Amino acid sequence: MKSIVRTNFDDSVSAYDAYERRTGRFTALARLLAAEMSARADGPFESVLDAGAGTGVSTRIFADRSRRTVALDFSREMLREVESAPRVEADFDTLPFVDGCFDGVAFTASLFLVPDPSVATREAARVVRSDGVVGAVAPLGWTDADGTDIFDGLARESRSPAGVDDVETAFEDEFAVTTGTWRFATTAESVRRFHAIPAMAARLYPKLAIEERVARARDLLDSLDGTVEQRWRWIVGVAE
Ligand SMILES: C[S@@+](CC[C@H](N)C(=O)[O-])C[C@H]1O[C@@H](n2cnc3c(N)ncnc32)[C@H](O)[C@@H]1O
Repeated sequence: MKSIVRTNFDDSVSAYDAYERRTGRFTALARLLAAEMSARADGPFESVLDAGAGTGVSTRIFADRSRRTVALDFSREMLREVESAPRVEADFDTLPFVDGCFDGVAFTASLFLVPDPSVATREAARVVRSDGVVGAVAPLGWTDADGTDIFDGLARESRSPAGVDDVETAFEDEFAVTTGTWRFATTAESVRRFHAIPAMAARLYPKLAIEERVARARDLLDSLDGTVEQRWRWIVGVAE
């Protein structure tokens, strides 16, 4: 499963960056997460691990707010794009760092991409210092004006390897936790653009080859129109 996720992101660089240029969604999520993490920190962050850094969208945000940010990802092609921090190619389930060496660890839209988020959460708890802060953001999906999940009326679900509840439970096992929900007004067109990223189209059609997967996602979402609300859950824990 993990090697499939890695390959999907290796094949997603240009579509991911095109989506981000258009929507700024991951920049917004990283900014909001950084603010929630800072609010629970005992001082400014000296060092932050950006776990699942992708092309560096979240890395830029954390690098602006700390003296030393490290970008870690297991997709070599995504990581190649990162310019604002030192890069480490690794799986966040087995972090190549000594205990207690970061003030903060951030999983911006990444921790729900593993089948068992408790493994990486334990690793984050190990590499963060005592009173350090760990944060994650995970997707709650899209609803229409009536509050109905837009995928209820379609033949597929847009599903992650792990659910938001799995991420939250993993955090509660390791940290003192605070959570909340962010809501973004967006459009049906933006939902289509999101699923034009091969790694995101895999949420709908995990078994299909890339081109077919993206084409099927486009057909499935073709009839959506109007404005929709996208919701993301944030989860922040303080290490004891
Ligand atoms: C949706 S992208 C988010 C990237 C970035 N944080 C941002 O805000 O734009 C998720 C990233 O997590 C990475 N990822 C997923 N599972 C991982 C794992 N087990 N170890 C390291 N990186 C992982 C993927 O390769 C991908 O680049």
